[in-house]
Amino acid sequence: MSASGRLVAEILSEVRDRIKPGVTTQELDLLASRLSLKKKARPAFKGYKGYPFSLCVSVNEEVVHGFPSKRRLMDGDIVSLDFGVYLDGYYGDAALTQAVGRVTSQAERLIQVTKEALLKGLEQIRAGRRLGDISCAVQQHVEGNRFSVVRQFVGHGIGKALHEDPQIPNFGEAGRGILLKPGMVLAIEPMVNAGGSEVEIKADGWTAVTKDRSLSAHFEHTIAITENGCRILTQVCHGMPLF
Ligand code: MF3
Ligand code: CO
Repeated sequence: MSASGRLVAEILSEVRDRIKPGVTTQELDLLASRLSLKKKARPAFKGYKGYPFSLCVSVNEEVVHGFPSKRRLMDGDIVSLDFGVYLDGYYGDAALTQAVGRVTSQAERLIQVTKEALLKGLEQIRAGRRLGDISCAVQQHVEGNRFSVVRQFVGHGIGKALHEDPQIPNFGEAGRGILLKPGMVLAIEPMVNAGGSEVEIKADGWTAVTKDRSLSAHFEHTIAITENGCRILTQVCHGMPLF
């Protein structure tokens, strides 16, 4: 799983470097798809429950599962990229949100707080802790910064399938839920809104947007639980996480 995680990180970091005003979101999808095939990996999302693209690209009020299109990114946008691969029998999955050019200080803060929330969740992970410890740490960081956690989508176990048990909500109570054990591999993925937590699905059947059209950010790592903590698998090389 470290091989599929590393490939996801390498590809997402290349795609991220391509983000600038004027780039279409379908150019980013094509790049992600090409880079996977070059490495003999299959883009994990394409065809998953009918999702039609390799990459999810969600702009501004789009929360997750945005469709790549001819839309050109503009100065002041924020863009979330979510990408997974299937390589040698195992899945890897990661996401990040990036500013396009200069963005508002609120947008900047939303991106920063969402990334921090994921890292606070990861800090909870060690043998003997419970799933609710992760959820609670994420929620507290987000709400402590007066943003809201999306409840309709959650993190997940990952391995031979893209989505395995357990589900990992980004809200919950410390001390509750299953015990964390070495060897488990999880995809932790807070989705955070600047306004209210409600989302709705657009007419394409996939794109989730905030109900109040406030901005939304998303970060995700695939991690493995070890004897003394966790190891981020979605890293470009050893000790070099994607973000
Ligand atoms: N990171 C998201 C997830 O784990 C991406 C899924 S997109 C889909 O659910 F198209 F595959 F559904
Ligand atoms: Co995921």
